[in-house]
Order: sequence, then structure tokens, then C-alpha cells
Amino acid sequence: MTEESICRAGPSLALIKYWGKSLKGDNLPATPSLAVTLGGVHTETHVMQAEHDSMSVNGTRQDPARYGSFFDALRRTLGVTAHFEAHSTNTFPTSAGLASSSSGFAALAGACARAAGCDASLSDLSSIARAGSASASRAVFGGFSLLPAGGRRARQVFGPEHWPDLRVVVALAARGPKPVSSRRAMEETRAGSPYYFSWVKESTALLPDAMRAVENRDLELLGVTARRSYSLMHGAILGADPPLLYWLPGTVAAIHACAALRAEGIGAWETIDAGPQVKILCLEKDRDAVAARITSLGFGLQTLMCFVGPGLQYGPVQG
Ligand code: DP6
Repeated sequence: MTEESICRAGPSLALIKYWGKSLKGDNLPATPSLAVTLGGVHTETHVMQAEHDSMSVNGTRQDPARYGSFFDALRRTLGVTAHFEAHSTNTFPTSAGLASSSSGFAALAGACARAAGCDASLSDLSSIARAGSASASRAVFGGFSLLPAGGRRARQVFGPEHWPDLRVVVALAARGPKPVSSRRAMEETRAGSPYYFSWVKESTALLPDAMRAVENRDLELLGVTARRSYSLMHGAILGADPPLLYWLPGTVAAIHACAALRAEGIGAWETIDAGPQVKILCLEKDRDAVAARITSLGFGLQTLMCFVGPGLQYGPVQG
């Protein structure tokens, strides 16, 4: 038996979105995704070996069925037979469109591997985390990471030091859990939206520009490409039958505020995941102006300040 192990991970914010699964199964993505791991918010997970697998998030016991394929992949990949008791907490709203499953499964993979006494590679941890949530395969890495279409594991493209003055201002339009999980919504999009296959095709075509934008630290090119990605994704989601609209009044207000800020010469580029929150890419010098504009809009909008964060950190971690 090992002692309790502790691991932290930041959520993986997709710039080019993963939305839809490969028909090959095994939770493989149908689209490539390029993401930035966020610092300033995190999941922290404590794990010990136990008789049975169990998981709690913010003190609430989770349905074991949601974690079965993750624990199976973990044991298979690491060649261990151990079971685990895990407790995680998030410093940000859970299941609310802030990628808590990405940081959750990434931190769980790291903490379980340590609790099993394994010194697993980040690449193997990425593959294990993917079995829980495909976006989690990216969150084990700091900085910028890429999960190819059909990929079993993500890889780091650039470390956090690559773009030190990039910031993400999160406009929180609601704190509660989203009405439909990403997993269910992406399946409903595939099954019911006539735009699904166009989404898969077009989203794949966005990747080269997004990669170039990150490489050159070109905020405008990144912003234009990320905007195209989220717009196409939400268009496809709206095409599901029945339609699904994650946006709230505060979401729409924040989108328009970003356009207004850009017209005033402030680089503020929004992206939106499966939920009402708006994540705004900007530079450090403009961060406070962006946040002030968002909170001035009303609609109960609050902000979280994030930066380009590290990958897995083993605890106890200060701060
Ligand atoms: C909109 O990774 O949560 O955040 O693999 O079914 O667990 P599962 O889905 P998940 O979906 C994330 C969707 C997204 C876009 C992204 O992070 O790329």
C-alpha cells in the first residue's frame, strides 16, 4: 500500500473544439482539438488504494458507471490490479461548461498512478485520462496541447512559457451545472443535426491556422480561428433535434461586448464550450479592461482570471 497521493490539474480550454466521437468507440474524438491548459483554477484530487473503486467530487459520491472505463484503462495501461478511493475538489464551478471533466480526469490519472506506485509517462497518463473524458487527455500537459482526430493520446505543442502574456478572462453567466452533459449533447448532435458532418470537416480544416497562430503568438489569427470553431460547433448543436441552446442572455451580451472591445482596439476574442460561459482570450495589458467591461454588463456576470497554466502537479502544492 502507498500513502495518499495528491495531484492537481487545470482545465483544458479548447481553441479548436473536440465535439463528436469516432465511430470506432473507445472514446476517441472525431475532430482534432487544440487547447490551452488554464492556470488560476484547478482540480485537486486525493487518492489512496482501496478495496473498490470510488470517486467523489466536491464531497458528492459519483456514479461508478461513469468511471468504469477510466479505471479499467488505468489498470490495463499501468499493468496493475489495484483499486482506488478518490476525492476531488474544484476551485471553480463543476459541470458548468468550464471543462471540469478535463481537469478532473487528468488529476485522477496522475493521482491514481502515483498511488499505485507507478512513474507513468505523461503520454500514458494522457491516454488513460482520455478514457474518462477525451478533453482530459490534453489537460495532463501544461501550455498548449493537441489531440488529433481519432487520437488515443494528446501531445504538448508548446509549454506555458511560450506565451506568458496570454490571458483568459472567463465570463461566468451561470454557476449551476449545465442542463445537458457534453457527452450526451455531442451524441445528440451527431444523431440529429444535419450540420454534424460539415462541422467535422470544417473544424478539421481550421487546425493549421490555429497552430500557426499559437506558434507565432498571433492573438488576432487565433481569435478569428477560435471564434469560427465555437460558432460552427454551436451551430451544429443548435441543429440537433430537439435543438439545444446552451447560451443565456449573459452569454450573448459577452459576445457583443467582445466585438465592441475589438472595435475600440482591444484584442478580446471569445470562445464558448458546452455551457453558457464565455472565455475571452486577451493579453495581460488588456485583461482588467476586458474584465471591467464584462462585469459592467449586468446579467449577473462575474469573471475569473486565468493564464496559460502548468500540467499535472503533484502535491501538496502551495496556493
Ligand atoms: C465543448 O471531453 O467533456 O469542451 O469525452 O464525452 O467526456 P467526453 O467529452 P468532454 O467534451 C468536451 C467538449 C468541449 C470541447 C473541448 O474541450 O474540446
